[in-house]
Amino acid sequence: MEDTVIEKKNKNQNDVIDKIVSLSKRRGFVFQSSEIYGGLNGCWDYGPLGVELLKNIKEEWWKFMTYRENVEGQDAAILMHPRVWEASGHVENFTDPMIDCKQCKARFRLDTLAEQISDKKKEKALMELSQSLNEGSEAAEKLGKLYQQGTKDAEVISTAFDAVIEDKELSPLLLNKLNCPQCGNAGTFTSARQFNLMFKTFIGPLEDASAVVYLRPETAQGIFVNFLNVQSSSRQKLPFGIAQIGKAFRNEINTKNFLFRTREFEQMEMQFFVKPVEDKQWYDYWKKERLEWFKSLGMTPEKLRYHDHPKEKLAHYAKEATDIEYLFPFGWGEIEGIHNRTNFDLSRHQEYSGKSLKYFDEEAKEKYVPFIIETSAGASRSFMAFLVDSFYEEEVNGEIRSVLKFHPRLAPIKAAVLPLVNKDGMPELARKIDDDLRPFLKVFYDDKGAIGRRYRRQDEIGTPYCITVDTQTLEDQTVTVRERDSMQQERVKIDELLTYLLKKLNSK
Ligand code: GAP
Repeated sequence: MEDTVIEKKNKNQNDVIDKIVSLSKRRGFVFQSSEIYGGLNGCWDYGPLGVELLKNIKEEWWKFMTYRENVEGQDAAILMHPRVWEASGHVENFTDPMIDCKQCKARFRLDTLAEQISDKKKEKALMELSQSLNEGSEAAEKLGKLYQQGTKDAEVISTAFDAVIEDKELSPLLLNKLNCPQCGNAGTFTSARQFNLMFKTFIGPLEDASAVVYLRPETAQGIFVNFLNVQSSSRQKLPFGIAQIGKAFRNEINTKNFLFRTREFEQMEMQFFVKPVEDKQWYDYWKKERLEWFKSLGMTPEKLRYHDHPKEKLAHYAKEATDIEYLFPFGWGEIEGIHNRTNFDLSRHQEYSGKSLKYFDEEAKEKYVPFIIETSAGASRSFMAFLVDSFYEEEVNGEIRSVLKFHPRLAPIKAAVLPLVNKDGMPELARKIDDDLRPFLKVFYDDKGAIGRRYRRQDEIGTPYCITVDTQTLEDQTVTVRERDSMQQERVKIDELLTYLLKKLNSK
């Protein structure tokens, strides 16, 4: 049988992703949520090493974004007044068009169905659709404008397919000509329905419409509604930003690719409030800053790019937008969005709350609603990108070494302390070193197995330094420090070890 586009990609991608999922479980980075009950789709738990890595990513973001004069932090509640989500447009517009297969009950997002269908099958379905329409009918004329029969150019066919599937009238007719990518049956799709991605729950004891609240699908709205609270309490003047890290929830139709698209995830968002005339300059500034942040933490520059949104595809509130994309094993995927949101959000909250959110510009002696430049990164998605990017399998002395080359500041464990053998006073000395480092650094003590095996275990979880206490230590109070990537060793005095490590960890 012919491979679909997705199947072909999967053959290459599964290998690396499978290895990472398996490593994550085995070494305690990420577990399936509620695993003993069979798991909960789209939800993952962070294990002992995962929680360290995630915490380090968030800490680096927090320092980079808020340790500046013009950005303040905050932490808004997950549950917000339901009117917030009416004002933001989420109640009305935060939907995905969804179709079901009546035969196998698989559910698909209409707008991403094309990814699962080969170009040949797209062409066949378009041809069949064209032949089934009465010549001269309105539908036939419309199709004729979108699709020219006989064309063999894959890109032209794909573009035509996307346009037809988005068209309200032609879409159900095209769906009828397609086979379900899961069970292979033809003509089994339901018509498309709009599916709101917000999770609903109830506040208080009554489970009726008046008690409905939503689990926030983004942290951004908590920042917009606090704009004046933060501005006045911190006495900030424009331009300034508000940053927040927090959980977000989306009832995604198709969760996929491990942590890439999940139903519960964490965001790291910053909203920068500017004078309307200065929007372009700040948009360009943050676009550059944010890409640099990923690079500064060691992400491979060639695997990072911008994807600027074409004007006609911009969200209704955006004047300009770009995604920072990372080249995952399954292709390019967004890890952060940067938007010029204009004055849309604050204007809407003014309108829905009846409270003024205008800023008084003392210099210009005028009041106006600021424009907002948003930087919105996924902490969980960045976690996955950093994990994938640092994963290497290298041949060393005829054996494969699996290593996570995390930037030292991101590494879950900063140093391992290893007595060469469990005798001659080495364990006692190693324990003392471990005790002395522990208040300052996340360290790990390991005295089990051959030293080479212990190094490999640390390489596999990305520990940048291994400190070994050996015979020479007993004589001259020095230890060896082995660096993970080069595997080079250096002798360092025990007295100078902490300073040495702190310097190394912060120098990159
Ligand atoms: N406030 C704007 C906003 O939320 P978005 O593009 O929908 O914009 C921003 O989301 C970032 O949040 C994405 O770039 C991605 O990193 C992360 N994200 C969004 N949906 C996600 C999901 N279902 N699972 C994991 N991360 C997600």
